[in-house]
Amino acid sequence: MKFLYSCVLLLALCAASQAYSATWGKRNSTDYLLSRQTEVRAPLKNSYWNINVDFPRSGTSNLYTITAINVIDNFRNSSGATPSLWSGGPGYRFAQINLRSQVSKGLNSTVEIWGR
Ligand SMILES: *[C@@H]1O[C@H](CO)[C@@H](O)[C@H](O)[C@H]1NC(C)=O
Ligand SMILES: *[C@@H]1O[C@H](CO)[C@@H](O)[C@H](O)[C@H]1NC(C)=O
Ligand SMILES: *[C@@H]1O[C@H](CO)[C@@H](O)[C@H](O)[C@H]1NC(C)=O
Repeated sequence: MKFLYSCVLLLALCAASQAYSATWGKRNSTDYLLSRQTEVRAPLKNSYWNINVDFPRSGTSNLYTITAINVIDNFRNSSGATPSLWSGGPGYRFAQINLRSQVSKGLNSTVEIWGR
């Protein structure tokens, strides 16, 4: 019974960490905003958006080390897209962030990349 309870608690924690806004890393006041882009998609009936945001954008280069990535869900209700960091991120000079929307919901998320 106690084991079951732990499992439920763990699942609840996982669900809570599936927040629609996310931050990786930590920035300090002297860090630069390297990139800010907002991805907006209209809802797809019975389907979802799965998009990758690459930093730096293809064809550009980046000389700074990323300290923090901040994904803001502009919906601010429970229908936003789930962000995941697929590669790179804090400590690297590149990052790939995936945004997966919910079925039949659009998305409006802003990805901020900070570095120094
Ligand atoms: C921010 O980071 C830079 C580079 O590591 C460091 O020189 C500076 O003191 C830090 N500033 C604060 C407020 O922590
Ligand atoms: C997306 O969110 C931003 C920030 O809240 C807002 O200014 C913008 O109008 C939104 N875009 C759409 C298409 O809803
Ligand atoms: C959340 O906000 C978006 C944009 O304002 C809207 O399109 C969507 O229907 C809202 N979802 C819910 C569950 O309120």
